[in-house]
Amino acid sequence: MAPETSVRKGDDRQGKDAIILPASRVTGRRYDRISPLYDFCDRMGRPEWRKRIFDRTSGEVLEVGVGTGKNFPFYRPGTKVTAIDVAPRMLERARRRLGEAPTPVRLLLADVQALPFPAASFDSVIDTFVFCSVPDPVLGLREIARVCKPGGLVLLLEHVRAEGRVAGALMDLMNPFMVRVVGANINRRTVENVRRAGLNVESVESLGPGGIIKLITARPVGT
Ligand SMILES: C[S@@+](CC[C@H](N)C(=O)[O-])C[C@H]1O[C@@H](n2cnc3c(N)ncnc32)[C@H](O)[C@@H]1O
Repeated sequence: MAPETSVRKGDDRQGKDAIILPASRVTGRRYDRISPLYDFCDRMGRPEWRKRIFDRTSGEVLEVGVGTGKNFPFYRPGTKVTAIDVAPRMLERARRRLGEAPTPVRLLLADVQALPFPAASFDSVIDTFVFCSVPDPVLGLREIARVCKPGGLVLLLEHVRAEGRVAGALMDLMNPFMVRVVGANINRRTVENVRRAGLNVESVESLGPGGIIKLITARPVGT
């Protein structure tokens, strides 16, 4: 399994030395396994939600957990995007559809829990449906806070544990099975985790049925 990086318009291969923490290697292997079916099975994020996020990005953008590159058509012209993932086969699929992105993209194998970038590198950091599968979400969110510039924007589209008691308990019950099969926790309390990571949460919008999909807007503390 080669730690590959793939880039359009300038390959600096920065990701080849990236640190992937052991638990993330397990996650990466799970997503590698499901990568051929991912686009067919995943119906989570409506295109209009994805577009809304990227319309708010500017300058240097980091996309965490790029997967197969579903967000490429929504990248904003004029931005410069770095997109990372821990699953080489998901990245390989993303590389094949780089042509859908209207702006330069640098694809790297990297772990959000140990980002290979200096502090304050990005104007916008975004993800769609990633923190359900990051082994230590608070560590990953702290890394996002570190690499986001002061005044920069963190935009996360995530499914989270239901707020209702019964639905939440059901999700807790089903979670071990879901983790084993698709590598995703369905009962993460991601809004709380964003706060625990030290980011300032500016807004949380509930989307879709049952309100379990949240659009979280946050900024590094002090900005
Ligand atoms: C449910 S998929 C979402 C993919 C894409 N963002 C989308 O909306 O279709 C989750 C992705 O996050 C990646 N991922 C999981 N843990 C990660 C980590 N620690 N660092 C970077 N990417 C990670 C997985 O490999 C997978 O490609």
